[in-house]
Amino acid sequence: MRITDLTRRQGDFLLKIDNAYFEPGKIHGMIGSNGSGKSTLAKLIMGIIPADSGCIDYEGLTPRDITMTGQKPYLLHSSVYQNLIYPLKIRGIEPRAELVDQWLEKAGLQHKRKQYALSLSSGEQQRLSFARALIFGPKLVIVDETLSNLAPDGVRLFESIMEQQQRENPITWITISHQLVHISKLCDEVHFMEQGRLVQSGTPEQVLKHPTNPSVIQYLANTEVSFKG
Ligand SMILES: Nc1ncnc2c1ncn2[C@@H]1O[C@H](COP(=O)(O)OP(=O)(O)OP(=O)(O)O)[C@@H](O)[C@H]1O
Ligand SMILES: [Mg+2]
Repeated sequence: MRITDLTRRQGDFLLKIDNAYFEPGKIHGMIGSNGSGKSTLAKLIMGIIPADSGCIDYEGLTPRDITMTGQKPYLLHSSVYQNLIYPLKIRGIEPRAELVDQWLEKAGLQHKRKQYALSLSSGEQQRLSFARALIFGPKLVIVDETLSNLAPDGVRLFESIMEQQQRENPITWITISHQLVHISKLCDEVHFMEQGRLVQSGTPEQVLKHPTNPSVIQYLANTEVSFKG
């Protein structure tokens, strides 16, 4: 996916991305301070909000190939099962029992299929929302801080689902997170946003270990974990 001269103004915030490339089949990490425009870019890619100018070339992906999971899972007032099969239903795909069981198991919810989704714990709700995002076989998945309320084993579960997906059938991921350990471990490429601009992109090694941009250096100086080692 290629982004060219993309702008969007909201209030006094201006997102302006002159040129960015998200290589297909890779895990892209998006980092940057609060309010730097990460979620705005995610919404522009999803088509949830329109751009003022510029262009996103999806390189053949259509809206039905793209999905996003947010920090707050938007679950339907129904069972775990009904939530899980919802993306299949709206795309007119028959929910095969084998597929549904497989995703319930991956999300660790195999014994909760009949439970009212909103009575799940917050971590379980996030796992359900993640499984629901993936069950229909998207080709681009944006994970906007879905991991932020998760315990370490929950984050690990997400990572293992992503890793398994990449081994079996690589898709494009954009994972937005402040958890730099997660980003450095999992991502093929890292993109750093600052005040609505993409100021540095590269491998985790390049961006997190050898940052060249002063904003990235400043941001990393405030983190507890050192990537220098
Ligand atoms: N409807 C709006 N009107 C005015 N300003 C807005 C609107 N929506 C978003 N913004 C502003 O746009 C800026 C970018 O917000 P965005 O949610 O993209 O940041 P972010 O990088 O995702 O931050 P965080 O890490 O805190 O999630 C913020 O300053 C926000 O206040
Ligand atoms: Mg955000």
